[in-house]
Parts: sequence; structure tokens; C-alpha cells
Amino acid sequence: MIRKLTFATALLSAPMAFAESHGNGPSGDPEAGEAAFRACIACHVVRDPDSGEVLAGRNGRTGPNLYGIAGRDSGSIEDFRYSSLAQTAAEQGLVWTEENFAAYVPNATDFLTEFTGERGRSTMTPQRVSEEDAINLYAFLAQFGGEEMDEDESE
Ligand code: HEC
Repeated sequence: MIRKLTFATALLSAPMAFAESHGNGPSGDPEAGEAAFRACIACHVVRDPDSGEVLAGRNGRTGPNLYGIAGRDSGSIEDFRYSSLAQTAAEQGLVWTEENFAAYVPNATDFLTEFTGERGRSTMTPQRVSEEDAINLYAFLAQFGGEEMDEDESE
């Protein structure tokens, strides 16, 4: 718990100039995020799990389906084989908030080792994505599923 709080504090103090955040919703620009998503589609798709419809990307299978990623529990796509580091983070309750997502995407291994306090290696390689584009990606992906982000974050 202490580790997570420390990490959140580090993120809060990072010098980032995003558009003012409004409530709990994503603070990035979904259109910029759509452009940035091109860096992800070799490995990820956004597919509606009910209809099977591809909502973004093509047919990437190396990484898990990103449908509903905003507010989703990490490591929760059933048929996907996550790294043991990612599984440990999921057991510890990692959730894809905007902050966690934006810190994870540029360097999954760094983020997950810091979050879990364990050594290990994520199977997602580091991505050349600025933290600002990671925030934009989150706003883009939040358009697909991710109902949790809408209004029930009042706990
Ligand atoms: C080279 C393939 C590859 C690329 C490119 C890639 N990813 Fe991943 N991604 C993965 C893999 C593999 C995992 C599972 C990692 C693990 O198990 O440690 C993953 C996991 C994730 C997760 C966690 C999902 C969950 O269910 O917990 C998110 C979020 C994510 N990627 C976002 C992105 C975004 C955004 C981009 C584009 C900037 C991107 N990825 C680019 C392969 C990739």
C-alpha cells in the first residue's frame, strides 16, 4: 500500500501540462489518442467481447484485447497468457486508472516492478510514447467499454 501511495505521489508531482481535468473522466485528447494507437495495433485490438466486432485496430493478438481498459482490472482477459509479473500486479489489485495506464505504457517492466516490488519482466516491450500521448491514448480507449469511468467513481 505504501509503495502504491509513493508511486502516486511521484506521478502527481511530475511536471505535466495536460488540459484541465474535469471530474473523473479522461483528461486527454481522444483524437490525438487515435493517431497514437497506430503504435499499438501490431499487438492489440479493441474488440467488443459480446459481438466480436473490431472497434479499433486490426487483429493484434500478441497483447490482450484493450476493450474497456479504462477502469479495468489489470490482467483480467481470461484467455490471455500474461507474464508472471503482470499476474502478480493483478493479484495485488492493479487497476487501469489513467495515471497507472500512462505510467505503464512507455515501460511496462519498469512500472510493474515498481508497483509490485518484485523482479521480473513484462512481455510488453517499452513503447516510444510520450506520457502526454499515453494520456491521449487512454482518452481514446475510454470510448470503448469502460463504463466504470462514467459516473460511479464516488467511493
Ligand atoms: C510488441 C507488442 C505490443 C505492443 C506494440 C504494445 N503492446 Fe501492450 N501489451 C503487450 C503484451 C504482450 C501485453 C501483456 C504484458 C504482460 O503480460 O506483462 C500488453 C499489455 C498491455 C496492457 C495491459 C492490459 C491488461 O489486460 O492488463 C495495456 C494497458 C497495454 N498493453 C497498452 C498498450 C498500448 C496503449 C500500446 C501502444 C502504445 C501497446 N500496449 C503496445 C504487447 C504489446
